[in-house]
Amino acid sequence: MPSTCAIVVHPSAEALALAAAERLASLVAETERPPFFLALSGGATPQRLYEILAGDRFRERVAWARLEIFFADERAVPPDHLDSNFAMVARALLAHVPVKAHRMPAESGDAEAYARLVGTRVVARRDGVPVLDLVLLGIGTDGHTASLFPGTPALDETRNWVVMNEVPSLGARRMSFTYPLINASRRVWILATGGAKREIVMQCLRAPAAGEPGGAALRQRWPVVGVRPHEGELVWWLDEAAAG
Ligand code: 6PG
Repeated sequence: MPSTCAIVVHPSAEALALAAAERLASLVAETERPPFFLALSGGATPQRLYEILAGDRFRERVAWARLEIFFADERAVPPDHLDSNFAMVARALLAHVPVKAHRMPAESGDAEAYARLVGTRVVARRDGVPVLDLVLLGIGTDGHTASLFPGTPALDETRNWVVMNEVPSLGARRMSFTYPLINASRRVWILATGGAKREIVMQCLRAPAAGEPGGAALRQRWPVVGVRPHEGELVWWLDEAAAG
């Protein structure tokens, strides 16, 4: 399957979250070889999607037993910490539905162990790299995605699927999926809502991809530009405020 890129715009963040929930429920139902491997991001943008999935409309409808969840990135904090992506997803979704989820224990610093876990659970491979069915990502106003921040060492990672990334702008270390793992996936969705994201979304959508002239340098500046599944589908999910 060649790599494709689509941009879908919804009138509001709520409409976007609802449409994404619908699409995800269908993908899980249609998957020929369950489990459907899904990686989640933190941040405020996908939280509504997680809540909608746990709500009346989807709780009974999604085939939860066909789904297995990983995390695309995590802060180095315990699972009940206010900053923990796991804590947010647990509150919004995991506490309400019977789904298998693998927390990313970033506070252990053991990125290799998480990579091994992904590699053990996900048997499908593309050039030796596990193929996740869907990776959900967000974008920061600085162009970061997952915990791939501008100018940080994780951007140059070509071998490891998961790394601890030193992020000087935050004065913190985070665990994150790397490009090799993200770009081996079948699908990547980048969710962006709100006017504050408009400028960066526009710049990144205009930027050349990593393989094109100038693309590699831009990926250092706006890491989301390096997200481009090799043989999969990339979808930018925007609300009207982010799309401008
Ligand atoms: C995280 C993320 C991160 C997030 C962006 C956007 O752990 O925070 O995975 O990459 O997606 O920072 O965050 P918002 O949705 O809160 O703007």
